[in-house]
Amino acid sequence: MQHLIDPMDLTQEELGEILALAGEIMKEPEKFSEVCKGKKLATLFYEPSTRTRLSFESAMLELGGSVLGFSEASSSSATKGESVEDTVRVVGCFADIIAMRHPNEGAPKLASMFSPVPVINAGDGGHNHPTQTLTDLLTILSEKGRLEGFTIGLCGDLKFGRTVHSLVKALSRYTGVRFVLISPPELKVPDYIITEVIEPAGLEYTEVTSLEENIGQLDILYMTRVQRERFFNEADYVRLKDTYILDEKKMRMARPDMIILHPLPRVNEIAAGVDNDPRAAYFRQVRYGKYVRMALIMKLLEKAAE
Ligand code: CP
Repeated sequence: MQHLIDPMDLTQEELGEILALAGEIMKEPEKFSEVCKGKKLATLFYEPSTRTRLSFESAMLELGGSVLGFSEASSSSATKGESVEDTVRVVGCFADIIAMRHPNEGAPKLASMFSPVPVINAGDGGHNHPTQTLTDLLTILSEKGRLEGFTIGLCGDLKFGRTVHSLVKALSRYTGVRFVLISPPELKVPDYIITEVIEPAGLEYTEVTSLEENIGQLDILYMTRVQRERFFNEADYVRLKDTYILDEKKMRMARPDMIILHPLPRVNEIAAGVDNDPRAAYFRQVRYGKYVRMALIMKLLEKAAE
């Protein structure tokens, strides 16, 4: 049985297979409408979510399966002190696959060690968000036609941003990827991302603070939200939250074929006036997320279309 806890749990070959399958599903979704008939997905969300939970649920429903679960810890027996280990042992009696989001880093990993069914990490604290990464990769592949040889700017909260950490890990396997890490000094990417991921891969990177001065060199701009829920101190959050606001003026400095990604939700970091720019790919990105989660569920349940 295979779980997906960290983006590096997938070999590059497996990643390629999932992206290729997602591409097939996008072309002919009706061909896949019954592949998971009789199967159940449990969504165990101990932390709020709109996209990830509903995307998983929509993905399973479109594959002909069913969904069950909870969307907040307060409506589960976690409030009575039940451990994550016991919860997945129990839910594994009801469901064939589990997607879990948890505020504690490592909780889905722990769950996978006790679960009788595959566990997918749907986001653990500031650590990893591997299915957002699959979404991001499918978006880049579909919009740019390749996963190699581009300059990507990651902008905003690079310290706590689990989507950034997972995406950098996944992209470090592709040649010619150049990272421009744009953040205030307080929200720089953790050291291990540089020393254990980017440098061993031999990829180029720069750490900068200005979006304006760097936007013109980017093929992809990955904007992120400064996350109030990860700050210990409200005053620090208020001071840093509007450091970067992508607006129409800054978009005039960007390349005509640069695409903008954002895992969403956004707050102020992308002005609404940018939404109608054809380079704004962040709502298309949400749709790619459903298809890639369909492909992932099929892969983990070892299902193939007829
Ligand atoms: N991108 C993402 O994880 O969004 P949600 O928090 O709404 O799931």
